[in-house]
Amino acid sequence: MPLSVIILAAGQGTRMKSCLPKVLHRIAGKPMVEHVYNRSRELNASSIYIVYGHGGETVKQACSTLTASWVEQAEQLGTAHAVQQASTAIADNDTVLVLYGDVPLIKTRTLQALLAETKGDNIALLTVVLADPTGYGRIVRDSDGHVRAIVEDKDASAEQKKICEVNTGILAVRAGYLNACLKRIGNNNSQGEYYLTDMIELAVNDGQAVSSTQPSKASEVEGVNDRKQLARLERIMQKDYAQALMADGVTIADPARIDIRGKLNAGNDCFIDVNCVFEGEVNLGTNVSIGAGCLIKNSTIACDTIIKPYSIIEGATIATGAEVGPFARIRPGTSMAEGSRVGNFVEIKNTSLGKNSKANHLSYLGDSEIGANVNIGAGTITCNYDGANKHKTIIKDNAFIGSDTQLVAPVTIGENATIGAGSTITRDTEGNALTLSRVVQKTVKNWVRPAKKK
Ligand code: UD1
Ligand code: CA
Repeated sequence: MPLSVIILAAGQGTRMKSCLPKVLHRIAGKPMVEHVYNRSRELNASSIYIVYGHGGETVKQACSTLTASWVEQAEQLGTAHAVQQASTAIADNDTVLVLYGDVPLIKTRTLQALLAETKGDNIALLTVVLADPTGYGRIVRDSDGHVRAIVEDKDASAEQKKICEVNTGILAVRAGYLNACLKRIGNNNSQGEYYLTDMIELAVNDGQAVSSTQPSKASEVEGVNDRKQLARLERIMQKDYAQALMADGVTIADPARIDIRGKLNAGNDCFIDVNCVFEGEVNLGTNVSIGAGCLIKNSTIACDTIIKPYSIIEGATIATGAEVGPFARIRPGTSMAEGSRVGNFVEIKNTSLGKNSKANHLSYLGDSEIGANVNIGAGTITCNYDGANKHKTIIKDNAFIGSDTQLVAPVTIGENATIGAGSTITRDTEGNALTLSRVVQKTVKNWVRPAKKK
């Protein structure tokens, strides 16, 4: 049977104390609702409905890349009402899976196990046993262990409140039967809401079976209501990512001190020191070493490369055996060839650095093409911007740029050229020659420095 997923995302999230709708708060760099959407995709859902309410347009805009049907629930009248906004459009024989935009850690295999329980018009319910069930709907079973009803915390008797098996809210059922039940659900309860959970008692009275499965960890079904819970789930997700990397042969100095906000692919024997952040898609070859405190975004770093502490790398391609940092900033459009080096306090942007070339200290290299075996002396600056336009600097193979040189682009430095330290180069220079542009050193004897006026 085709699968339709309904993601409830209409809650206000008052306790987040935020202008941002709750489901847009991020876990591992993505809005919570996007994680739930991704799990739905992994289940090969034929359609995904997102029920939005509070801050609706903002949610839609922030998630414009998701292929989902957006359904507005203008007034939040309860979970049954929310589901109904989407379910009436679903073909009778589809299986409907109800998920929540603020329950981001749910695992695909848990949902697959739940879906395997749907047969005919029975209801498959995901439940969990909690040490403290306060606040949740309790699962009421008969003496044979069959589910009879779900009683909301606010409507439960003292005896029912002792039940530790609770409703996660996640369930699956045939659309035709779901819609028939939703029409019969009223709002005669302590909150005056249309409860999706009332469907269980209706189904039991109709003679339908209610089967239940459990997630492997309770955190999978934990919802986010405040920022403390957001931080808690963030850590759980990061720990999972760290464990997967370690299982794949990566050494992580402290799995509690890594943040992956996107996808990190890493080869065997990579080492990641503490407090590194990875964003977007990052690919590491084998035996890459990343020092403490690095931020790496949308980059590819080949085998045997050493990234020293506190380096920031974005949109770069770094070849085998290169070295970066400490305290280097590699900006988008940069490629570093085999064995090349960028050292401390060097900023490099939209530049290709050739094989075995080095810029080890205190430089700005922008919009440049740098050949092989080039040495860029400390303090070299490519003056790439004239106040209106950017210009290119080309440095040919084996050139040696003396320290504290300004290369005023557009300019080309010839092959095997030497530039004397402290030069300001404004015209192309010859290869195999020394070019320098500084005043001849002179000495003024008995020079008296100005004294402070009294
Ligand atoms: C619900 C369940 C409860 C379960 C708990 C698990 C019902 C009646 N109760 O209770 O059995 O133990 O979840 O967390 O279903 N929502 C809408 N529109 C609405 C109402 C809710 O989109 O009109 C969304 C909320 O944003 C939230 C979710 O549905 O994401 C749950 O709603 P909430 O009112 O918080 O339900 P609970 O009282 O927690
Ligand atoms: Ca409620």
